[in-house]
Amino acid sequence: MTKAISTPNIAFVKYWGNRNNDLRLPAADSLSMTLDTPHVEITVDHTDTMSVRSFDADDAEKQMKERDVARFDRHLDLTKQYLTKLGAANAIPASVTITVRSHIPSSIGLASSAAVFACIAKAYAELIKDAIALNDAQISVIARFGSGSAARSISGGYGALLAGSGDAMDSSYGVQIADENHWLLYDIIVVPTQEEKKVGSTEGHALAWTSPQYKKRLEQMPRRQKECADAILYKDFEKLQRVAEEDSLDMHHVMETSTPSLNYLNDATHRIIREITTVRTTDRLPVLYTMDAGPTVHLICPEEAATAVRELAHSQKGCRIFEAKTGSGARLLETR
Ligand code: DP6
Repeated sequence: MTKAISTPNIAFVKYWGNRNNDLRLPAADSLSMTLDTPHVEITVDHTDTMSVRSFDADDAEKQMKERDVARFDRHLDLTKQYLTKLGAANAIPASVTITVRSHIPSSIGLASSAAVFACIAKAYAELIKDAIALNDAQISVIARFGSGSAARSISGGYGALLAGSGDAMDSSYGVQIADENHWLLYDIIVVPTQEEKKVGSTEGHALAWTSPQYKKRLEQMPRRQKECADAILYKDFEKLQRVAEEDSLDMHHVMETSTPSLNYLNDATHRIIREITTVRTTDRLPVLYTMDAGPTVHLICPEEAATAVRELAHSQKGCRIFEAKTGSGARLLETR
C-alpha cells in the first residue's frame, strides 16, 4: 500500500473548456499556484475489486455518490490504458482500493478534485514503481485523467498545464514554472455562501464552446499564459494582478454567455471585487482577486499586504474566511 498527500491550487490563468472532454485534453494552457493547505491524504492498495471510501477530517465516512465512484472507475480505466501505452500493461494487475481522507471543507471554492486526483496519481506511481518508473510529467498526465487542474498540483510552487495538441492521451501535461521558495504569495479566501454549486466544472467545461465569446478567449490565452509566467518569474505583482483579473473575468464572461448560462458569481462576489479595486487605489495595496467556478473570491497578495488583506476579508459580513499560501505539491507519506 502507498499513502500520499496533496493540496489544491488556485489558477491565475484559468483552464476552461476541452478539445477532448473524454480525455480531459484542455483547449488552452493554464497556470496556477499550488497551495500549502488544506490537504487530502489518500491510501491505495492492490485488490481484486475496485472500492473507494471517503472520510472527512473528523474520520466520519462520507456517503459516496454513484457518479463520484464512476469517476474513480473511469480514472483507473484511463490510467490502465495509459500504462499499456507505456509498455506496463500489468503494472496495476487487478484493481485498487482507494481510501480518501479529506481535510478540505466542502463548497469553499477550493477544487478538492484537483488535490484528490493529484494525490491518487502520486500514490499510483509509487504503487507501480517496480513495474515502471514514472516522471512528474507522466504522473501529471494520470492526475489529468481525473481532473484537468489536478495536473498542476503534482509540482509545488507555480505550475502550468500545457494544452498541447492532438488526441494522444499524454499530449497535455503539467510542468513547474517556479518552485515554492521562489515567491511567497498568500491566498486569503472569502466564501460568501455554503451552497453546493449546481453545475460542476466537468459539465461546465463541455459548455464552453457554446459561448460566442469562447473563440475570442482562446485567441487571448497564449498571450496571457506568457504574461503570467513572466510576472511570476520576475515577481511582478502588478503584472500578475492585471492578467489574473482579466482572465478570471473573461472566463466568467464565457460561462455567463454559454448555453445554458452559468452564473457562478453573486452580489457578495461583486461587492468584494468593488472594495478590492477601491483599496488598491486608495491604499496602494498589492492584492488581486480571482474566482473559479463559484462565488468564492480568492484574494492573492504578497506577505507585506497579508495583514491588511486579512482584515479586509474578515470585515466581509456573512462570509467564511480560509487562508493558504504557496505550497509544495503532492508527495508520498508512506509505502509498505
Ligand atoms: C474554474 O479541473 O475542476 O477551477 O477536469 O472537470 O475536474 P475537471 O475540471 P477542473 O476545472 C477547473 C476549472 C477552474 C479553473 C482552473 O482551476 O483552472
